[in-house]
Amino acid sequence: MYFDTHAHLDDQQFVSDQEAVIKRAKEAGVELIVNVGYNVPSAQHTVELTQKYDFIYGAVGLHPHEAQDLTDDVLAKLRDLTTGPKIVAIGEIGLDYYYDHSPRDIQRHVFREMIRLAKELRLPIIIHDRDAHEDTLRIVKEEKAAEVGGVFHCYSGSLPLAKEIINMGFYLALGGALTFKNARKTVEVVQEIPLEYLLIETDCPYLTPVPYRGKRNEPAYVIKVAEAIAEIKGLSVEEVAQTTRNNGKRLLGIE
Ligand code: NI
Repeated sequence: MYFDTHAHLDDQQFVSDQEAVIKRAKEAGVELIVNVGYNVPSAQHTVELTQKYDFIYGAVGLHPHEAQDLTDDVLAKLRDLTTGPKIVAIGEIGLDYYYDHSPRDIQRHVFREMIRLAKELRLPIIIHDRDAHEDTLRIVKEEKAAEVGGVFHCYSGSLPLAKEIINMGFYLALGGALTFKNARKTVEVVQEIPLEYLLIETDCPYLTPVPYRGKRNEPAYVIKVAEAIAEIKGLSVEEVAQTTRNNGKRLLGIE
């Protein structure tokens, strides 16, 4: 009954046992997964996963780390990969001023291009925003991305920013970082923001929740995120699982 709205099952770290990992997710009660592409090969792998597994959906986009690789050819290939019936979002896209793997002006340009593609295709967006809150919000507003909506993934910002984001009609997705000791700010966000605006995710193989921290993350561990939200909000895990799953299905247009 859980919906992991952000996984990278195409990552190198799953090469040897991808099938077993997916099987474990299903057995643990993960009913839906969105695999999120970050460049052309990753998007191709994502499409293959959606064809192979009925409960895996996909997102196609160019990650800010890869922004400097955008060419007309890459854009055309990404567009082609969105045509499958189970590609439900453009992502992950956005800005990363922490790593700065691509120059910032190029990141901003590519983020705008990806939002324009999403609007043309009428698909919601999955946003990666690391240390770039101001520019991310400005571009989302200037490009009128609210017309398609979307989610700020791995949300770790402040409560005022969270309120601004949900007021624009976007969702916040929480991952394993919520279970870390230093997550006080995110705990406050979860306390104050209604469950109706929250999604859960793993971002696997990264950001493994406690008590598995230090190991590779995988979709089955999304349950730990649901449990953390349930504890913070004083709700049952079932209610958190059901509401976040319905939120995800609504945003992504999954029946
Ligand atoms: Ni990700």
